[in-house]
Amino acid sequence: MKRQILVLLAATLFTACNLGEPAREGWFTDERTAERVDSLMQLMTLEEKIGQMVLFTSDMDVTGPFMRDHYVESIENGMVGAIFNAYTAEYTRELQRIAVEETRLGIPLLFGYDVVHGHRTIFPIPLGETATWDMEAIEQSARIAAEEATAEGLHWTFSPMIDVTRDPRWGRIAESSGEDPFLTAEVARAKVRGYQGDDLTALNTMLATAKHFVAYGEPQAGRDYHTVDISEITLRNIFLPPFKATVEEGAATIMTAFNELFGVPASGSEYLLTQILRDEWNFNGFVVTDYTSINEMVPHGFARDDKHAGELALNAGVDMDMQGAVFHDYLEELVEEGKVSEAVIDQAVRRILTMKFELGLFDDPYRYSDPQRQEELVMTEENLEFARDFSRKAIVLLKNEDDVLPLSDDIGSIALIGPLADNQREMIGSWSAAGDYTQSVTLRQGIENRQGNRTRIHYARGANIDDDDKTGFGEAIAAARQAEVIVLAIGEYALQSGEAASRADISLPGVQEELFLELAKLNKPIVVVLMKGRPLTLERVDEKASAILETWFLGTTTGDAIADVLFGDYNPSGKLPVSYPRHVGQIPIFYNHKNTGRPKTEFKFTSKYLDVPNSPLYPFGYGLSYTTFDYSEVQLSSDEMAMDDVLEVMVTVTNTGDRFGEEVVQLYIRQLVGSITRPVRQLKGFEKIGLEPGESKEVRFELTWEDLAFYNADNEFAAEPGDFHLFIGTNVEDTQKAAFVLRE
Ligand code: GLC
Repeated sequence: MKRQILVLLAATLFTACNLGEPAREGWFTDERTAERVDSLMQLMTLEEKIGQMVLFTSDMDVTGPFMRDHYVESIENGMVGAIFNAYTAEYTRELQRIAVEETRLGIPLLFGYDVVHGHRTIFPIPLGETATWDMEAIEQSARIAAEEATAEGLHWTFSPMIDVTRDPRWGRIAESSGEDPFLTAEVARAKVRGYQGDDLTALNTMLATAKHFVAYGEPQAGRDYHTVDISEITLRNIFLPPFKATVEEGAATIMTAFNELFGVPASGSEYLLTQILRDEWNFNGFVVTDYTSINEMVPHGFARDDKHAGELALNAGVDMDMQGAVFHDYLEELVEEGKVSEAVIDQAVRRILTMKFELGLFDDPYRYSDPQRQEELVMTEENLEFARDFSRKAIVLLKNEDDVLPLSDDIGSIALIGPLADNQREMIGSWSAAGDYTQSVTLRQGIENRQGNRTRIHYARGANIDDDDKTGFGEAIAAARQAEVIVLAIGEYALQSGEAASRADISLPGVQEELFLELAKLNKPIVVVLMKGRPLTLERVDEKASAILETWFLGTTTGDAIADVLFGDYNPSGKLPVSYPRHVGQIPIFYNHKNTGRPKTEFKFTSKYLDVPNSPLYPFGYGLSYTTFDYSEVQLSSDEMAMDDVLEVMVTVTNTGDRFGEEVVQLYIRQLVGSITRPVRQLKGFEKIGLEPGESKEVRFELTWEDLAFYNADNEFAAEPGDFHLFIGTNVEDTQKAAFVLRE
């Protein structure tokens, strides 16, 4: 009876303040929501407050080092505020009922999950999504992911992952948007908009998480979880900008990284979590740690034990402990010992409860756990249609000798070979959430779907992905001998990239390259279809292949999307978001590097290798088309600009080929002299345009001082007067150049 009265009282307090849905003035700063949160907090014990700061995984999915079997009991005790890796309307309703009906105050749970590139309908891995350079499509993909995820009871996604990375040895490059901070920031904004929409109380929007804060993508030796040791200038100019963009876009939560920075593990860094996030950026969402990263401050050698780690994490600015149970086990004791203050706990709880009110969970805790919506909204034909279009936009044409592609509709025979040619599992890549690989379309199915019996397909696996078994070579060569064209699908396992999947050798695994070289001896057109989560070292493939398609892992509709490009139903428009090294020894290799005091020339004493060129095999922003584009000279509104001017930049692009095509027009700058050395190129704008044969379009960009500014040695964000070069083109190396001067 007592519990019911309390819940009734709490409900009364809520409704008394709830004069209709809270307006969304700014993000999470609505006064009426604040009143409702305060009313509830007045009823809560310290233990119940701490419970809100605890995030445990269910046993429905495993995404970290260890599980706890008492998560249901902890919910019953009111000692959990959120659960992750639990979805479907039924399961979330079951767990929510425990929280709402079996605890003293009935505070609803938050349900979170790694919906990273789709929920059930799986899209290309994020590196592939980014290769579309299509922000509208990326936003729409997040919108659809949110629709499907919320239809299955989820309120919160641990996405976007926005770690800039210049190291393809690091497996999580697959989840990233590549090496450029500007492009990553644009993708990050699009995904936050897609997930959160403009009204979190809407049933099909969910909390976004910007992760992993920060610089997790720069581990020493490309080895996951390894030490990050960078300068403050590199942190500010390369790794922070995407996170700042998500805070500006209203991201609800930020997740701390596993790594240390400046000798301090991110989950214990007051500099990162309070000085930068709160004091500089005025972030008003909540900070959640990555999986047991509070506990990991002990092996880092930053905390004596878990309890000390909990004290450091809370005082640094962590609001919620993912799976570590450190807040769960020690916060009450730490308050009693005066090591942490209840005021800091109140602040964390206020941020967390605000999100629950914003999602409408106190008005109806079960509103997202609706089997009817789940039935209607998941993997719809419309979602799959979008996925196919999005996936084919992610494909990058790396080579097309003698226009071997597109293949003719009435091609008589194709030898379809390779361990990834008829493979469903790998198609959905890593971090594929609730994706069901048995629903994915293989390349073989895609070609059959399109060609029917017009084309005879001679299929042979030829080799496995990653072993030394060559017994399949004979069958593959026999198949190839019978066909006009060879299509060879090779690459990696889905889980050879992603978390805990670094590779010291980034060549093709197993004997796949040998298989390719054997097939290349037949002197038939050979189209290589790459499926993998990272750039690989492909010089010998590049040398002998007739055509190469980079397809990443394209998700549920893979085969149909690739067939659309193979046969020209879609003219490939993807561009690389990351440089491709010729050799692993070149890593880190990235386009926005410094010039050095001895830039490479033919003379000995300059910056170069004796055995490998400095240049990448394929540069940032690179991607071919089945048509060709011509760029006019770059026009500037002036060759001088004052600090408060807007410089207008124009270029006219013409489709000089015979079919419709899309082009990503890229704008780069270079400041010739600065108070600190400046990169030889920096992406500062791009626009994806579609042109009919013969059609021209003027593309315009506007540059302000902010586009030219950077963090200098004094940590000031400022533009500096001086000479600039400006480059516009089809990739970072193939551009038209102009020059201007920035005045005081
Ligand atoms: C993992 C990942 C993180 C993910 C979390 C929950 O270890 O580092 O990206 O969101 O745990 O699954």
